[in-house]
Order: sequence, then structure tokens, then C-alpha cells
Amino acid sequence: MGKEDPVRYVCDNCGFSTITRTGKCPSCGQWGTFEVIQPTVIQPMLMQTAAAQGPRVEVVSALSVTPPKRLSSGIGELDRVLGGGFVPGGVVLIGGQPGIGKSTLLLQAGGLVAAGGTPVLYVSGEESSAQVALRASRLGMTSEKLLLYCGGDLEDALSNLLRPSGQKIGFLILDSVQAVRAPSETGWPGTTNQVRAVARSVVDVARVADVPAVLVGHITKDGKLAGPMLLEHIVDTVLTFSGEGYSSYRMLRAVKNRYGNTDELGIFEMRENGLVAVEDKSGLYWNRGGTALVPGVAMTVAMEGATPLIAELQTLASPTAFPYPKRTSRGIELNRFQLLAAVLEKRAGIACSGYDLYLNIAGGFSIQDPSADLAACVSLGSALRDVPLRGDCCYLGEVGLAGEVRPVSRLAARLREAARLGLKRAIVSGRERRGKEDEGIEVERADSLTEALKLGGI
Ligand code: TYD
Ligand code: MG
Repeated sequence: MGKEDPVRYVCDNCGFSTITRTGKCPSCGQWGTFEVIQPTVIQPMLMQTAAAQGPRVEVVSALSVTPPKRLSSGIGELDRVLGGGFVPGGVVLIGGQPGIGKSTLLLQAGGLVAAGGTPVLYVSGEESSAQVALRASRLGMTSEKLLLYCGGDLEDALSNLLRPSGQKIGFLILDSVQAVRAPSETGWPGTTNQVRAVARSVVDVARVADVPAVLVGHITKDGKLAGPMLLEHIVDTVLTFSGEGYSSYRMLRAVKNRYGNTDELGIFEMRENGLVAVEDKSGLYWNRGGTALVPGVAMTVAMEGATPLIAELQTLASPTAFPYPKRTSRGIELNRFQLLAAVLEKRAGIACSGYDLYLNIAGGFSIQDPSADLAACVSLGSALRDVPLRGDCCYLGEVGLAGEVRPVSRLAARLREAARLGLKRAIVSGRERRGKEDEGIEVERADSLTEALKLGGI
């Protein structure tokens, strides 16, 4: 290859670009992910319009700092996760597995924005107009201001935004970034090159036209956005839409947000006529007022961003004669569960080795927060000793290898949520600051796992 050969190799996974042929990506460590990119003249859409305004240098202190006027999506939960609605000129990427409900959510948002009087352009590269129309009517989105473009030509679709005649589009939805083709680049839709060019064009057009735009991006099985990670850097906000296959609940979270925080969690339920926001999130993972007390059931309050969610941990201990007992956990990482079982055995003297142990969080909830450690240990202890725990008590603490109980973040918010749902008692770390007793719930302190178990009646 000649020295001035401009062929580039771009990593399909992370977007790293190099001029030498390489097997392993030095940036993300993946093998065989390089694609050959032939030199092309990259002409982002409508460069002329942007160029006409000319590059400008501005005095920072002289710039206006008034917060941008936001466009409400008409869906409270979505607005909240976005930090108060869509920002004109801002681009949001919403990622999720196929079939999770991205198109449904955006068609609902588009329909509601249109019903509010703002013309909306929904670009569908995946579905036919008949399919979109059928879904829109099922969702009850009948506004005349909801405009549809079906097809895979990005330039043609985006030109609708800058046409001086016709309705002035106030909101753009592109479904999906992998299904349309930017004519300025080579390759099939969905390739690194194309995905990047499509996103760039949408960002440019949204800025020039000063309209908010949403891109839909599919997520691969291992949870990564198909296409380069670079996509996440190009846009202003990245939302993920997720849910378990068997559950009708869907979670909306912001993983990056230039216009708001990333703490909010939005929960929706997929019903026959679309997604419905779940206002009271407390019942999701808790069988409130459930059956009689069963050994192995313990309650905790986990934080999902800024939202406290009550969760019910259930453990089953079943005696086994096999030398390698089984350990299974759903909702808490298996290694963590095994570690907690070892701590319980060593520090609290409750033998686990003769039992197969199964841990489950009710409702398919998954907790990364270490504050659920104490509840997991107590639930395990309760199952192994076959003694039920009080049904109105929650356990909040991280458990260390020495068997100590450590404080958790945002205790006050967790206690308030527990009290709101009618729990009467909370067992927390002895190292929690005093003064947390007035959240409407009786607070007991334990320095070690043994003390916590004793307080729980184990
Ligand atoms: P969809 O929005 O097409 O998912 P995505 O765009 O993320 O691939 O939603 C697909 C699923 O949602 C589909 O399996 C059917 C279900 N669904 C409902 O249950 N109720 C509805 O009102 C709609 C429109 C879809
Ligand atoms: Mg879709």
C-alpha cells in the first residue's frame, strides 16, 4: 500500500480509525472488527445552509444563558427522563432491543406533539406506511399534523425539514438510524460508515432547522448499540428503553444527557393500546399484602437513579446430598450471591454447604446497588434456619467480607419510601448518621451481620 494511500480501517465496535490493517482494535480490544473504508468525500447534508451562516466566534460571557424552551412530548414520564422535554436543535438517541416498544413510544410522543399543534415528521425506514398507519390508529393518534415519510433515503426525508413551502416541521423522529441510507457515504444501511453519516446529518439538520430530533437505534443482544459507540458522542442525549421479555413493564433511562441529569427513571406498561406510564412504582416488585409469612423472604429499598424502589428478595434453601451444591440467583449477580453466602457461613455461623440455594427478586427486578446485600444475607439466613422474617421490616446495608454492615446512599429517601408503603421497621448499619429516625419508621442499627440477624429474629 502506498504511503499516500488514503484507505482507512474503522473499528465496527468503537469507531476507532487507523490507516494500518490491524487484527485487534487497540481502543476496545475486539478482534476482527475492522471495516475497510474507501475514501469518500464526506458531504454532510445541507452543508451549504450551515455554511451560509458562517463560522462565528463569540464572547462566552455575552451569550444568552436563558434555558432553552422545551417541547413537551405529551408523555410525562418521557419528559421527566429528558429533563423537562425535548430541546430544539438537540438530538436524542433512544436505544433498545427489537420489539421493546421504541416505535410505539415515539409514535405516541409524535402523535401527542402533533395534537398539540406542532407538525411532526415521522421517518420510518423499517415499516410500510400501512403498518405505521395501523399502529397510529390503534394508538389513537389521529392528528393531521402527524406526517409520515416511509423510505430509506435520508436526504429525501430530511429535505422536508428545510423546504420553505409547506408545513414547518417542529419535531423529527427517525426510525431507525440503522434502516436509512445517507447518500453521501458508501455501504449498506446499518454499517459503521452509514450509521455515523446518518447521525451526523440528522444532528446538522436539527441544529440548522432548530427542531428537536429523535433517532431510534437498535441494541444488539449483548446490550451494545449496533453501530459505533461514536454515535453516543455525536448526539446530545442517549436514552435506553429496556424490559424483560416476559414482563409488560418497560424502563426508560438516560445514560447521557446534555440537557438534564441522568438520575430519572421512567416506567411504562405495554398494553393493547400502547404504552401507559406507571405512576406508582411501588407495587412492581413487591407482592404487597401477600400470603402468609414464608421463610426466606426479605424486603429492601433499592435506588434506581433517584427513584427508590421497594424490592422483595426470596431465597429457597433445599438440602442436597451432592458435594457441589447449586447456587442460582436472579436479580443479583451470582458472584455477589456466592460471596454473601460465604460471609454468612463464616461470620454468622450459618452453614450453607449442605443446601442448594436459589435467590430471586420478585417481578424480575435486577439490583446492582450493594445496599441489597443485607437483605440478601438475612433472606438466606431465614431460609436456612427455616424461620420467617417480619413482613413489615426492610433491610438496608452493604455487607463486607468481615461481616460488617456498611451504610448506604440516600438512606432518608429509602426510609421515606418504605414508610410510605406501610413498612414499620428498618434495619440499617450502625454507622449510619443519627437523626434518620424521624422518617416515619422505626430504625434499628446493626454493626454486624450477626446483630442484624438477631434483630430480624434469626
Ligand atoms: P415496537 O414499538 O414495534 O418495538 P420496537 O420499535 O422497539 O422494535 O413494539 C413491538 C411490540 O409491542 C409488539 O410485539 C407488539 C407490542 N405492542 C403492544 O403490546 N401494544 C401496542 O399498542 C403496540 C402498538 C405494540
Ligand atoms: Mg420499531
